[in-house]
Amino acid sequence: MTPPSTDRFTLIETDAQVALDTLAQDVARGLTAAPKTLRCRHFYDQRGSALFEAICDLPEYYVTRAEREILLAHAGAIATSFTEPVTLIELGSGSAVKTRLLIEALLAHQQKLLFVPVDISQTALEESAVGLLGCYDELEVLGVAAPYDVGLAHLHAHITGPRLALWLGSSVGNFAPGAAVAFLRDVATALDGEADRLLIGMDLHKDRGVLERAYDDAQGVTADFNLNLLRRINGELGGRFDLARFSHRAFYDEARGRVEMHIVSKRAQTVAIDHLDLDIAFADGETIHTENAYKYRIESIPALLAEAGFVLERQFFDRQRRFSLNLAYPRR
Ligand code: TRP
Repeated sequence: MTPPSTDRFTLIETDAQVALDTLAQDVARGLTAAPKTLRCRHFYDQRGSALFEAICDLPEYYVTRAEREILLAHAGAIATSFTEPVTLIELGSGSAVKTRLLIEALLAHQQKLLFVPVDISQTALEESAVGLLGCYDELEVLGVAAPYDVGLAHLHAHITGPRLALWLGSSVGNFAPGAAVAFLRDVATALDGEADRLLIGMDLHKDRGVLERAYDDAQGVTADFNLNLLRRINGELGGRFDLARFSHRAFYDEARGRVEMHIVSKRAQTVAIDHLDLDIAFADGETIHTENAYKYRIESIPALLAEAGFVLERQFFDRQRRFSLNLAYPRR
């Protein structure tokens, strides 16, 4: 895919070799650990990002629809809470479909808008930029194809003026609680302007069946998304995983307050990863823990944000109170 040919698009890329080295290092570390793990950032290669977009459209995956409902109802109010033109930043922007609601709301009362999407998938970034720039003449896009921490460093260094930072989709829930607070502290530090705001989506605890179906759908798209990690290791690191010998498992651990995703080995087997010079042995039923999706209680959100250095300013819910959007500012 060729980058959009317009003077309204700038792309900051991550060096391909650096990205591959990081993948190699993470895979070697994760698959030789006990229990085995893989970092969730590696889900999002081109195919993984496309599969995630398909997840967002699944009947079982209420997260995207609930968040969209909230944005439809409140994007206007969020936009008008700024008195000056803002720069819109998004961590993990993906297709940026939901973001359009905020872009339109902001463009209703500022003439131009700079949008800075940060996403680990360069293809997702380029495709979303093409779509957005074709729709909004007043938009300029500065894409940062990088992991969150690298993206954040760019923001701190290069983006000035009032900023609205988005972190949607309850992606914060994919961090362990301590790591979430630590990362949010870095976000708070980067948002050092008087009018800067964070809008963060946080999914709420709910019925086990609803949660488990959201992460294990009937069509098997989520299973495909999870197993795509193995496909990626095969393609990029010379892995010899036979995907038919692994399956997807998702369950809600209520005590820990999270949905866990695993890849399960259907038998005892040893799998070579040629480029890493590794043979990985799996016991029958052994799993690779690939993702956590923490859920939140409405009452605990202010304290969590406070611990990270934010003050919760406004909270928005969908009608069924499945999901929350939280507008916060860094404590000065
Ligand atoms: N941020 C999303 C979530 O926690 C990520 C996600 C959705 C996901 N479905 C998934 C991650 C399935 C792994 C597997 O809801």
